Amino acid sequence: MWCDDRMREAILLVGGQGTRLRPLTLSTPKPMLPVAGVPLTVHQIERARDAGVERIVLGTSYRAEVFAEHLGDGRDLGVEIAYAVEVDPLGTGGAIRNAAAHLTCGPDDPVMVLNGDVLSGVDYAGLIEGHVRAGAVVTLHLVRVEDPSAYGLVPTDEQGRVLAFREKPTTAEEIITDQINAGCYVFRRSAIDAIPTGRVVSVERDTFPALLADGAHMRGVVDDSYWLDLGTPWDFIRGSADLVRGIAPWPGHAPAVSLVLDDAVVDEGADVGGGTTVGRGCRVAAGAVVQGSVLLDGAVIGPAAVVTDSVIGAGAMVEAGAVVAGCVIGDGARVGTGNELRAGARIWPDVVLPPTSVRFSTDA
Ligand code: GTP
Repeated sequence: MWCDDRMREAILLVGGQGTRLRPLTLSTPKPMLPVAGVPLTVHQIERARDAGVERIVLGTSYRAEVFAEHLGDGRDLGVEIAYAVEVDPLGTGGAIRNAAAHLTCGPDDPVMVLNGDVLSGVDYAGLIEGHVRAGAVVTLHLVRVEDPSAYGLVPTDEQGRVLAFREKPTTAEEIITDQINAGCYVFRRSAIDAIPTGRVVSVERDTFPALLADGAHMRGVVDDSYWLDLGTPWDFIRGSADLVRGIAPWPGHAPAVSLVLDDAVVDEGADVGGGTTVGRGCRVAAGAVVQGSVLLDGAVIGPAAVVTDSVIGAGAMVEAGAVVAGCVIGDGARVGTGNELRAGARIWPDVVLPPTSVRFSTDA
């Protein structure tokens, strides 16, 4: 429920360094990496627009210029985009406060705040409506996960009131719930204005616990629609494949086994599937197998090469017969014939692994 005479506004946090996604994030900020061929930020903006958001403030810092170059004033996406740039990163809370300078709504109006690395099917409009109806200061989207140890835990009572915040528990006793902070909030505008300015603040570690200690009404809404934090290469790959296969929500997209973008060539006899995206200008040669992977623009996969559950960077090359399984290959890198990379290997941009003719014999 929005106030009809006000602009409907959101803040998108996209200023992080994305260290867990290196080397992909050396050149491109995480939220601008293409997920099923479209930057994650664009997926989020489109969903927010479809929920009635008219104006989005992007809180940028790391490689801030990349966002403005691609998204401009938002006209092409049907929203108004403003940029709040942090010269030095201010943390999630500091970024929200910094973005508030670009909000136009009143002190009691709801403002949606989204982490820029989450793919989710949560009903944004429903969250905002419930927030306003309950008269909450902050509403948090929560999801239940099997292993909550890598996340911020948020237990709630039967009415959905938040009871505590526990960031990334280190012992079994600290795992007091399976409900985690899903990185999507609705704030009463005045609560954003109360965050201190000009210094690093964590919304998870500083702002939320302080509001709770002050007795503010904080709601948690548990939702079981699709949710994935694309912070690691393996989740990034999964999120992309889930969009292609129709597992993750993507209005207007027809589920498919693979997505081949403009000017890409997949030779007859190549086996491309498992939700793979073949980026613009890529080439996949006959006999190659590419499953559950992301080929960024201009990547080349040679004859009979095997690529599974991997990201192949822009302009990178996997030569004939090479094997890449569960790896990240940086932009412009080259994996020569005969190489076999498995399970978590990361090759930095422009690195060349020369072809090898060494063959191992199984004979005694
Ligand atoms: P890692 O370095 O891999 O942990 O990734 P990250 O830097 O993106 O950090 P994290 O995943 O914890 O950040 C969650 C969201 O907040 C992401 O969308 C980040 O872009 C954003 N974010 C984190 N820190 C800042 C900051 O200092 N300023 C701004 N504007 N956004 C931030």
